[in-house]
Amino acid sequence: MERSVVQITLFGLLLSLASTLPNKDDWDIYSFHINSTVTSRYATTVITSRVANRMNESKEIEFHVRIPKNAFISKFRMFIDGQVYDGVVKAKEQAQQQYSEAVSRGESAGLVSSVGRTLEEFKTSVTVAAHKKVTFELTYEELMKRTRGKYELQIHARPMQPVSDFKVDVHIQEEAGFSFIDVKGGLSTKALANAITKTHTDKEAWVYFYPTVDQQKMCDSCSDQGMNGDLVIIYDVNRDNGLGHIKKSDRYFVHHFAPSDLPRVPKNVVFVIDQSGSMSGRKILQTRTALIHILNDLAEDDHFGLITFDGNILHWKRELVQANSKNLESAKNFASNIQARGSTDINEAVLQGARMLNDHSREGSASILILLTDGDPTSGVTNLENIQSNVRQAIAGKFPLYCLGFGFDVDFKFLEKMSLQNNGVARRIYEDSDADLQLKGFYEEVATPLLTDVTMIYVGGTNLTQTNFSQYYNGSEIVVAGEITDNNIETFTPQVVAISSNRRIIFSKSNKTVESTGTVSDDRIQRVWAYLTVKQLLDKELQLSGPEKEKVKKEALELSLKYSFVTPLTSMVVTKPPGENTDVLHKPKEGETPQRWQPRVDHSFSRQYLAPSSRRSSGGVIHDNPVWRPLSRQLNHHSHLASDVMGKQSIGRYGGYSLSGISNTRTRAVQGMM
Ligand SMILES: *[C@@H]1O[C@H](CO)[C@@H](O)[C@H](O)[C@H]1NC(C)=O
Ligand SMILES: *[C@@H]1O[C@H](CO)[C@@H](O)[C@H](O)[C@H]1NC(C)=O
Ligand SMILES: *[C@@H]1O[C@H](CO)[C@@H](O)[C@H](O)[C@H]1NC(C)=O
Ligand SMILES: *[C@@H]1O[C@H](CO)[C@@H](O)[C@H](O)[C@H]1NC(C)=O
Ligand SMILES: *[C@@H]1O[C@H](CO)[C@@H](O)[C@H](O)[C@H]1NC(C)=O
Ligand SMILES: *[C@@H]1O[C@H](CO)[C@@H](O)[C@H](O)[C@H]1NC(C)=O
Repeated sequence: MERSVVQITLFGLLLSLASTLPNKDDWDIYSFHINSTVTSRYATTVITSRVANRMNESKEIEFHVRIPKNAFISKFRMFIDGQVYDGVVKAKEQAQQQYSEAVSRGESAGLVSSVGRTLEEFKTSVTVAAHKKVTFELTYEELMKRTRGKYELQIHARPMQPVSDFKVDVHIQEEAGFSFIDVKGGLSTKALANAITKTHTDKEAWVYFYPTVDQQKMCDSCSDQGMNGDLVIIYDVNRDNGLGHIKKSDRYFVHHFAPSDLPRVPKNVVFVIDQSGSMSGRKILQTRTALIHILNDLAEDDHFGLITFDGNILHWKRELVQANSKNLESAKNFASNIQARGSTDINEAVLQGARMLNDHSREGSASILILLTDGDPTSGVTNLENIQSNVRQAIAGKFPLYCLGFGFDVDFKFLEKMSLQNNGVARRIYEDSDADLQLKGFYEEVATPLLTDVTMIYVGGTNLTQTNFSQYYNGSEIVVAGEITDNNIETFTPQVVAISSNRRIIFSKSNKTVESTGTVSDDRIQRVWAYLTVKQLLDKELQLSGPEKEKVKKEALELSLKYSFVTPLTSMVVTKPPGENTDVLHKPKEGETPQRWQPRVDHSFSRQYLAPSSRRSSGGVIHDNPVWRPLSRQLNHHSHLASDVMGKQSIGRYGGYSLSGISNTRTRAVQGMM
């Protein structure tokens, strides 16, 4: 099997980009289907792509799709010439070993996913003989997350060609019924809007998207190369405001709890804002804009504080004050004058924020600490572990810490760990024209606390996912899954105990709350449990060290293997016909730099800048050190660009086909820089 290796430099490549468009006669995606089924607010999506090699010589055919970051891939298979090739999920180390062996046998090995804002890439390829066909089938699963009063199912479609048989089918089963359902995203615009059909009954909804070949060339982000964009199904369900929905099936249950008819709990919120030199320019402008919006949204019985920091700590006021109009005016004035300069003393800034909240404990209120930073600590205490331990001590579990990492120069893992250690979460704010909206959006998620000290109790339940939550916010949802002891529904008694303002309230079982799923042998609830358990174990692992960490990691690994989830601890080895390259798929962690194994291509550019460990031999480039090479943090500064450069490297291997992919990555890079 001859594989043509294109040997051109990056610049030559750019010049030739216009003239070497893919030869559409080479191969043909004659069918592309995406089928997404949501039950128990858990989505299982299958992408099926059928491709024919129209040439009278064998061709390498690529399968290249994007899936949501939150999802776990659970299956990948290829059908070629009557044979099925099933991908196998293995422990990462084991897969890595297999992969290294493939490399040492001289087979170039493969390729992994990279990170965008909400999506990850899956890419593999296989050689298909003359006039033969291949079917690729990828399955991924994700728990729908309710944010700001809605669920969003994002489906990305970029088949790389107009496809005559293109279909997206979405089916949502929802016992509680829908309060609304909408279809948004770039693929719902212009001519494509006509290709969408949306129907729903009491308990089920369907969205069909069947664009014709002509329509596939006529949307905002479509071209001769077909569609490239998202279909986003946005919906919410009816709520009974009691204990919520509990579904059980086959020994397992999942409980969705999201009451909304409760009074808001007044909050105490302190914003700790990085104003170090690296924030200068657009970042600080957007931060000011967002802060002013956020201040406008505070309620009169909220209390707030504002700290900005570089190497020094600047208090707007040393103590929390009430959000009355006089204080808000003064705070907005302060916010609009924040200037970027100096270094970054995260430790002292967060400790000061915690002190303000600790000095101001109010009965029946909810305290929240929000840190916004764009870089690593550079002054004061700079040892990351010391900062984490100081912060943990200062907060002592009394309120959550939310960390917002602005851009890609932050050590996201550090922020993530610090948030998780203090009952919060970390979120990345992407450097983009909408960063102020991202900041504001995050604030809105936590703007309305309805309950504090939420304890979910399940008498007759075992192997429960997280049951204690320090705060519950309007528009969100608490999800707990577990096993029903001895599968005995009679003794299974769910209950929620929480504090609403000053009142202790109990939500308990009404007759309607426990539903059994109708379908036979439905293992979905069990998969929901496994998905949640693995996610939570991975978070826990991040916070621990030593033997405890290993234990949790082992548990997460075993579950990932049992349920065939590609998680950060496992990899999928793509099985191919004999004699082909081995591809190993890894799931990147959030905050991890995109990592990519370099394909067997001679690029003077890559050798010079990105591949110090490759050396030339007569047969081409060989890798004498098969390790993953993360991009340097410096490159990472313009991470869109960096991944763009990486994208270009794979050109030689995939021949003409990925040229269309290249122009897409370039578009992305440009958007990222705007
Ligand atoms: C989508 O997948 C579901 C579940 O596997 C299946 O029942 C259904 O028939 C599929 N729909 C289409 C249009 O293929
Ligand atoms: C197909 O094969 C025939 C005979 O082997 C050859 O003459 C012809 O050039 C080939 N066509 C293409 C498009 O490669
Ligand atoms: C919570 O959200 C619902 C809508 O989702 C709204 O009707 C209700 O007023 C909100 N509660 C508070 C206290 O803001
Ligand atoms: C579930 O809990 C039981 C005991 O309560 C334990 O024996 C079993 O191993 C647990 N299963 C899993 C998958 O953790
Ligand atoms: C959950 O909270 C309850 C009471 O607030 C406490 O007794 C229990 O130990 C907590 N459980 C966990 C796992 O933290
Ligand atoms: C269930 O319904 C019956 C009759 O309607 C009622 O007597 C009973 O108290 C209800 N049980 C619960 C737990 O609400």
